[in-house]
Amino acid sequence: MADVLLEGVWKVYRDGYEVVALRDINLFVEGGEFVAVMGPSGSGKTTLLNVISGLDRPTRGRVLVRGMDLTAMGEDELARFRLSSIGIVFQFYNLLPEMTCAENVALPLIARGLNVRAAIEEALRMLEKVGLADRAHITPDRLSGGEQQRCAVVRALATSPSLILADEPTGNLDSRSKREVMELLRNVNEDGVTVIVVTHDPEVASYSRRVIRLRDGSIVEDRAK
Ligand SMILES: Nc1ncnc2c1ncn2[C@@H]1O[C@H](COP(=O)(O)OP(=O)(O)OP(=O)(O)O)[C@@H](O)[C@H]1O
Ligand SMILES: [Mg+2]
Repeated sequence: MADVLLEGVWKVYRDGYEVVALRDINLFVEGGEFVAVMGPSGSGKTTLLNVISGLDRPTRGRVLVRGMDLTAMGEDELARFRLSSIGIVFQFYNLLPEMTCAENVALPLIARGLNVRAAIEEALRMLEKVGLADRAHITPDRLSGGEQQRCAVVRALATSPSLILADEPTGNLDSRSKREVMELLRNVNEDGVTVIVVTHDPEVASYSRRVIRLRDGSIVEDRAK
């Protein structure tokens, strides 16, 4: 089964004037793939990720994730599906500043109904696996950018999603931190998780086995390596 299937997806923004952010996108991503999405600023990369995650709805077309049609779901169902099946990593980490690293990772588990103590224990176990055990009990402002982003990746993985979507996850990291984050995503992918990462950076794209290039909302290149 395809992990991600987009059929004739359009996204048109109409506020004042019309912007076609996605133009008849047809895309098939198999389970376990590692895909990089590249293209100039404004070409529709973030919009594409957002329709795949269900954060945004297409104007036209269908989006299926693991056979489930996101475009047919109501908001509540979509939110539940996202929580259980999709991990999202943002450029600016989006960790809650007043919570420790472990508490941030525990949040999605608590949202899914795990009690706080069990969620924190699971968070600690996961942080330990990626070498962040000694950072678990401090707040994000005391972590390096790379550590914050690794924490954010661990949080995205907390609920064992089959799909990770990352939008410029290394956009403001130095090259060592960038490699640490990408190694983590590579390990996750080797465990069978599908990874789709938006990036401007050829080094980041080199971790993928398939590169999709967007221009003006269309896929202009789809190349397996
Ligand atoms: N909420 C919105 N309302 C109106 N237009 C939007 C909205 N979001 C995005 N757009 C437009 O849609 C197009 C695609 O935007 P998108 O953010 O997907 O590009 P991108 O490829 O991610 O760019 P970048 O590399 O700068 O992040 C752009 O022209 C943008 O201005
Ligand atoms: Mg973007």
